[in-house]
Amino acid sequence: MYQGFPNVDGGTQENADSPLWEPTRIARLIAEGPIHRCLDDAAREELDGIAGLPEKVSGALENPKPLDVCMPVLNAVLAAQYYEIFEALQPPRAMAVYEPCVGASNPVILATEAYGGGHASYFTINLNRPLRGQLQAKIARLKTSIRIIEDNAQAALTHLKPQSCDAACFHHAVNDILQTAVSEPRGMDTTAVDWFPNERQMIEWLAEDTAAGRLEERGKPELMRIVEGAVRLVRPGGLLIFDHFNWQRFVGVDWFPWNLFYNLIPMTRQWIAESALPLSEVCLTGADPQWWMILRVNAR
Ligand SMILES: C[S@@+](CC[C@H](N)C(=O)[O-])C[C@H]1O[C@@H](n2cnc3c(N)ncnc32)[C@H](O)[C@@H]1O
Repeated sequence: MYQGFPNVDGGTQENADSPLWEPTRIARLIAEGPIHRCLDDAAREELDGIAGLPEKVSGALENPKPLDVCMPVLNAVLAAQYYEIFEALQPPRAMAVYEPCVGASNPVILATEAYGGGHASYFTINLNRPLRGQLQAKIARLKTSIRIIEDNAQAALTHLKPQSCDAACFHHAVNDILQTAVSEPRGMDTTAVDWFPNERQMIEWLAEDTAAGRLEERGKPELMRIVEGAVRLVRPGGLLIFDHFNWQRFVGVDWFPWNLFYNLIPMTRQWIAESALPLSEVCLTGADPQWWMILRVNAR
């Protein structure tokens, strides 16, 4: 399913000599380097107290994620992964980053702070209010200018100017967009619900719609509107970065649509390849195209 589109447009290779995410280097970034310096006191203390960091970093870099993955390490590793992509592709240090669907998740924000040294700016469009509250507590001491807009990311262009940002980061966001798209019409108010206790229901509805062949009518249009909005928000030469990961604990779980979730990035790549969007794929050694997709906005 959804295989056979290795690149959106043929792809260009940009870092053949220095593969991304070498585990020892990632461990250094989070234990003492720029990512460590961006953590809040509680997260830093938690990370400092973890024994066997190099093995835990290697586990966090695996896909699907192992059963014993250490969450504070995973969070810092995800930030380091985005940071290394920025270092490899060198957007301006004072870059503007857009992230749809941030929830309470701070890896892209930490990577932006670390790469920009506090001179970058960041904005997100996000629907769920309880998660927004949790996020605000985690990012209070950062120097980066941060703006959280409460709306559907499909309306991004009503809040933000075209070509006003350098990168759009869809961090583990494709599933969020699809889940919201199938849940709102069924009456779930995803702006207000406690997200995680309700997530299984969202995923079950998504599985139901996928099995019934309805993703083309509900799910794909919403995702593609958000991707199209991001393409218009990002300046020519800027980046769209997508990642997804799965948990090993869902292998063989009957209600979990493993095949769909395993292929979220290849499926999105296929939909983008079939669209007329002006994007070229950037291939970075070390970034597995099953789980990562990096696109550059073509000059118009
Ligand atoms: C569980 S959080 C995930 C955060 C982050 N993407 C991650 O996986 O770490 C899901 C968030 O995506 C948001 N979301 C989903 N679809 C959205 C949409 N169309 N527009 C804005 N926010 C959306 C939800 O409101 C929620 O806050």
